[in-house]
Amino acid sequence: MNKKQIPGPTNAELLPQIGAIQSNSLEFLMGLYKTFGPISRFQAFKTPVIHLADSGAIRHVLQDNHRNYSKDTIQFNSLSIITGKGLLTNDGTNWLRQRRLAQPAFSRGRLMNLDRIVVPSTQSLLARWKQFPGNHAIDIDAEMMQLTLEIVGKALFSIDLSQNAPHLTKAVLTTLDYIVYRVKTLTLIPTALPLPRNLAFKRALRTLEEAVEQIIQERRKRGDPGEDLLGMFLQARDEEGGEGMSNRQIRDEVMTLLIAGHETVASALTWTWYLLSTHPDVEQRLFDEVFGLLKGYPPTTRDLDNLPYTAQVFTEALRLYPPAWLITRKAQAEDEILGYPIPAGAIMVISPYVIHRLETYWKNPEVFLPERFAQDPEGTSHRFTFIPFGAGPRLCIGNQFAMIEAKLILATMIQALHFNPPHQKPMVDALVTLRPRGGLHLSALWRNHAAPQ
Ligand code: HEM
Repeated sequence: MNKKQIPGPTNAELLPQIGAIQSNSLEFLMGLYKTFGPISRFQAFKTPVIHLADSGAIRHVLQDNHRNYSKDTIQFNSLSIITGKGLLTNDGTNWLRQRRLAQPAFSRGRLMNLDRIVVPSTQSLLARWKQFPGNHAIDIDAEMMQLTLEIVGKALFSIDLSQNAPHLTKAVLTTLDYIVYRVKTLTLIPTALPLPRNLAFKRALRTLEEAVEQIIQERRKRGDPGEDLLGMFLQARDEEGGEGMSNRQIRDEVMTLLIAGHETVASALTWTWYLLSTHPDVEQRLFDEVFGLLKGYPPTTRDLDNLPYTAQVFTEALRLYPPAWLITRKAQAEDEILGYPIPAGAIMVISPYVIHRLETYWKNPEVFLPERFAQDPEGTSHRFTFIPFGAGPRLCIGNQFAMIEAKLILATMIQALHFNPPHQKPMVDALVTLRPRGGLHLSALWRNHAAPQ
C-alpha cells in the first residue's frame, strides 16, 4: 500500500491567508507549485483538493482515466444554477448523447461559413466606434462581449441579439460574478434567501431565461425547425426514433452555448488587444501580414490559412491569458497520480494559467512572443501543456469556432485601427474567465489608408 503523502500547506498555514487566496487565486495556485511542486494538496472543509501542474498528470485526469473524474465539483455545480444540465456541466451517457447531437453544428463545412456572420458584425462595430469623438476610450472588454454574443446568437441560433446585447451581456456578467462569489467563498447559502446579492442574481438570470425562451418559442412558432443548432436540438430523436429532447434540456443547451460561446472568446480578444497595444512591433507585424494579403479587403475564412502570424498572436494571447483558467474534476474512485494515492472524492484542480507559465515547459514564459508558435500556429502539438480549450473527451466543442472567429475579428479590425496602450497595466481578475479588473479602456488610432470599394 502506497503511504506517500501529497505535500501541501496545513489548514493552520492556509487560514490566515484565506482573503488573499480568494482575491488572487492565480498567485495562490502558482505559489502551490513553487513551494510544493507539480502535485500538492490542501483541505477545503473536509474535502481534499489536489492541484496538478504536470503534463502527465493532466493527461491522466483529462484523458487516460477520464471516466474516473466527473464534473461533480463546486465549480460546475454552481455554474449549473445558470446552465442546468447543458453540455458543459453534464456527465456520463447524457453528456455523450448531447455532445454527439451538437457536434455536426461545429463541422468544418459549417465553420467555413462563419465569415458571413463575423465580418459584417465586426464591420458594424467599427462603424459605430467611428462615430465616437476623438480620444474617446473604448471599453474593449464590454465591446468584445457584445460582439461575440451577437456572433454566437447568429451562428448557432440564427437570432439577431445585437439590439439587446448590452443588456444581455450585463446580465451574463451579473450571473457569472455571482457564481464566482459562491465558488470562492464556498458558500452554501441557499439562492432562495432574499439577500441583495441573491435578488440581483435572480433578476439577471430571469433576463437570460426570457431571452433563451424567446429564441426557442419563436422557432417553434415558425413551424420549420431550421438548419442550425437549434433546429438540430428541436428535431433530435433518440436511437429508436422516439423521444425528443425535453424543453428543459433544450433550454439548458441554448443557455450553455450562448454563455460558453461568447464570454470566453471576448476575454481572449480583450487580452489580445491589450498585448498588441503594449507590443507595437508585434502589432506592426500583424498588420503587415494581414494588409499584405488582403489590401484592406475584409477577410474570408479561406484566407485564414494564409495568415499564420495572426493565428500565432491569438494562440500566444491564449497562452498568457487563458480565459478558462480553472478546470476541476472529482475523483470517483481511488487512484494514483505521480506515485501518490488519490482518495475517492478528492477535487482535482488544473489551471491552464499555471501550466502555460511554467519554465519546465516554456522558455521565457512571461514574455509575449507569438513566434514561439511559428511551427505550430495553433499550439496543437502541446497537447497537455497548452490547454486553453481543455483536453481529452471534454475538449471544448467550440475550439475551432473560437479560433476562426477570433482570427476573422483580428484581421478585420487590425486593418482599420490599432490602440494606444493603457495608462496602467490591468490587474487580472480570475472570475469565471480571466478579466481585466475595472475593464480595459483603450483609445483607438484609426488608419487612414483608402478603404477598397
Ligand atoms: C477562446 C475561447 C474559448 C475557450 C478558452 C474555451 C475553453 C473551454 C474549456 C477549457 C473547456 C473544457 C472545460 C473542462 O474540461 O472542464 C470548454 C468546454 C466547452 N466549451 Fe469552450 N471555450 C471557448 C470557446 C467556446 C465557444 C465559441 C463555444 C461554443 C460556441 C464553446 C462551448 C463549449 C462547450 C459547450 C463546452 C463543453 C464541452 C463538453 O464538455 O462536451 N466554447 N471550453
